[in-house]
Amino acid sequence: MAQEVRGVIAPGKDEPVRIETIVVPDPGPGEAVVRVQACGVCHTDLHYKQGGINDEFPFLLGHEAAGVVEAVGDGVSDVEPGDFVVLNWRAVCGRCRACLRGRPWYCFDTHNARQKMTLTDGTELSPALGIGAFAEKTLVAAGQCTKVDPAVAPQVAGLLGCGVMAGIGAALNTGNVGRGDSVAVIGCGGVGDAAIAGSHLAGAGTIIAVDIDDRKLETARSMGATHTVNSRETDPVEAIRELTGGFGADVVIEAVGRPETYKQAFYARDLAGTVVLVGVPTPEMKLELPLLDVFGRGGALKSSWYGDCLPSRDFPMLIDLHLQGRLDLGAFVTETIGLDEVEKAFERMHQGDVLRSVVVL
Ligand SMILES: NC(=O)c1ccc[n+]([C@@H]2O[C@H](COP(=O)([O-])OP(=O)(O)OC[C@H]3O[C@@H](n4cnc5c(N)ncnc54)[C@H](O)[C@@H]3O)[C@@H](O)[C@H]2O)c1
Ligand SMILES: [Zn+2]
Ligand SMILES: [Zn+2]
Repeated sequence: MAQEVRGVIAPGKDEPVRIETIVVPDPGPGEAVVRVQACGVCHTDLHYKQGGINDEFPFLLGHEAAGVVEAVGDGVSDVEPGDFVVLNWRAVCGRCRACLRGRPWYCFDTHNARQKMTLTDGTELSPALGIGAFAEKTLVAAGQCTKVDPAVAPQVAGLLGCGVMAGIGAALNTGNVGRGDSVAVIGCGGVGDAAIAGSHLAGAGTIIAVDIDDRKLETARSMGATHTVNSRETDPVEAIRELTGGFGADVVIEAVGRPETYKQAFYARDLAGTVVLVGVPTPEMKLELPLLDVFGRGGALKSSWYGDCLPSRDFPMLIDLHLQGRLDLGAFVTETIGLDEVEKAFERMHQGDVLRSVVVL
């Protein structure tokens, strides 16, 4: 029997979000229904609401979630009712060319639930990143449920479902940050700060945080930044070069998603260094760079989807590091809020007041 729950939808481009009754079908083959306990508010939810991702409104927002599996469909063996899980938005297929080459974190055929959640009038919803977890319950593919140690608080665990994993993975997996490396992170929201925490965890020597907001820079320091640069006041490229012996950083992570900050990242890295783009641009954005500089500076220009994570490998590992006191995931939670406060949380994100607001259910 389908169930009716409360959820937060984005009804149309730039319209305020609102709470609606959501119809959640019983899980079909390969699917699971999860009782959501917590879901962080990510900038990507705001991109959806603004029409920056696609125009498949109405969206059921929310995708940084943890909860408990309530029911599973036929053929599901990896999780069972009662399991505490973090939801991931890249359930790997195991059969595509990336998976078959042993690189499942690049899976080219990730999947979501086949059935649709709807409004009570039958309108089909597009769940953000195939999750839709600003809701009491949500329907996902069973492969989107990653079991982790239930000793961790749901509002902390859920963060690994997107932004924090994206940032840590941008540093560890995509950027390959290692001991003694110099790293610069441009944009110190939840994602950028996670890249800083990841770099710190990896043993980076110099970690330079760049933002236009001094409050963000202060938090970045507590996450492990050794230096901070306010790029409204100081040219970040020059500042990063100065802090790295005149050369630039080994790895520069762009966590804003804009052409001008990408250019800063491009020129702030050392010769043969690596740029990691983890910020998500919007469709109309264009980048212009002298091709000779792209060639002449060498190195690697990479983008990082979801921190190139493999949820089954990375989520339990990072939760364990958190429980051991080696990675303070709790520091990312600025406030916990109710389902009815998502619009306000977007506002606070826009004002730069929060790292993460987390809806607790
Ligand atoms: N690649 C992925 O898999 C992935 C996953 C999650 C989020 N993201 C993207 O990462 C980006 C950051 O997400 P977030 O949740 O941390 O957002 P956020 O809004 O919390 O943080 C953005 C930060 O960038 C700063 N900023 C804005 N303009 C700047 C500029 N010109 N120079 C320097 N700093 C600037 C802001 O002050 C803020 O601190 C977004 O584009 C989001 O969509 C990507
Ligand atoms: Zn695959
Ligand atoms: Zn996200």
